[in-house]
Amino acid sequence: MTSGHLKTYLRRIDRSHYPEVQAYSWDEIYSDHLAPGGLYLAARMTRSMNLKESDIVLDLGCGKAVSSIFLAKHFGVNVFSVDLWISANDLNKKVSERGLRHRIVPLRLDVTRGLPFAEDYFDAIFCMQAFHSFGGSVAFLRHLLTHLKPGGRLCVGGTCFNEETPGNDLPEIYHKTNGWDAEYSKYHSSEWWRALFIKSGWVDVIECYELEDGQIMWEDEVLFTGEKAKWSDAYYQRGKWLINQILHGRHNRPYLTHFIATVEKKRKIQDKIIM
Ligand SMILES: C[S@@+](CC[C@H](N)C(=O)[O-])C[C@H]1O[C@@H](n2cnc3c(N)ncnc32)[C@H](O)[C@@H]1O
Repeated sequence: MTSGHLKTYLRRIDRSHYPEVQAYSWDEIYSDHLAPGGLYLAARMTRSMNLKESDIVLDLGCGKAVSSIFLAKHFGVNVFSVDLWISANDLNKKVSERGLRHRIVPLRLDVTRGLPFAEDYFDAIFCMQAFHSFGGSVAFLRHLLTHLKPGGRLCVGGTCFNEETPGNDLPEIYHKTNGWDAEYSKYHSSEWWRALFIKSGWVDVIECYELEDGQIMWEDEVLFTGEKAKWSDAYYQRGKWLINQILHGRHNRPYLTHFIATVEKKRKIQDKIIM
C-alpha cells in the first residue's frame, strides 16, 4: 500500500468523543512519544476513576509523566509518578517546568520489587500502557492493591489483542518486529484481564472491555507519526512491520486493539487461597 492509500485507509480518532482533550493539538495528544491512544486513552481511563481534588494517585509505569501531568492539571490530584526506565531527575525537571513540582513526586523504581508505600495509602491507581509488562498475576495484583485504600479504584488501560489465542500461538504476522520487543506474549484480551481481577478476590470489576475505537487508536498513531515523518520511505521501511499488522487486523482475528479495566478494592476482603 502506498502512503497515499494508507492516509485514506487508516482512520482518525473521532475527537468529539473526547471532550476532555478538545484543547489539545494532535502533537500534544502524542507528546513525548506516548504509545497509541495517547491522551485520548488517559482521558477515557479517568472517566471511571472517581477522582477528587487533592486525592493521592499512583501513576504506575508513568513513562515521561505525560499522564501524571494530565491528572494533576485536570483533576487537582497529587501524583506519585513511578517508572523504571525514566530517571526521577528528568521527571522532576519536567514537572517543575510545568509548575507542578508540589503536585507530582517522581520516583524511579521497579514495581515488581516491592512498593515503598503505606498500606491503603492511595485513593486511586492509574496505569496506562504498562500493566501488561508486570501486572499479569494474582500475586502482583495483591501486592499492588495492598497500597490502595478500600473503596479506591485501580484503572488499567492499554494495548491488547481482542481475543486470546490458544497456547498464545499468535499468527505469523505478529512474530515480525524491527527487533524491538513488542511484548505481544504478555498481551491479553479484556476478558482475560477481567478473569484475573476476579480471581484476585480483592476487587469488584466496575468496567472491563475492549474500546470501540481501540483499533483506531493504533491507526491514528500511525497517521500521526507518518505525518511527522512526512511519509518518508525511511519511515515506512522502519514501521512497516507494525503497519502491516494493523492492516491485517482490519479483516482478521486476533487484531491489535485497546482495553480499559477499572476495578474497586473491596471494603472487606475475605482472603482465599488462590490456586
Ligand atoms: C510503553 S511505556 C508507557 C509509559 C506511560 N504510561 C505512557 O503511557 O506513555 C511503559 C513504561 O512502563 C515502565 N515499566 C516497565 N516495567 C516496569 C517495572 N517493573 N517497574 C516500573 N515501571 C516499569 C517502563 O519504564 C515504561 O516507561
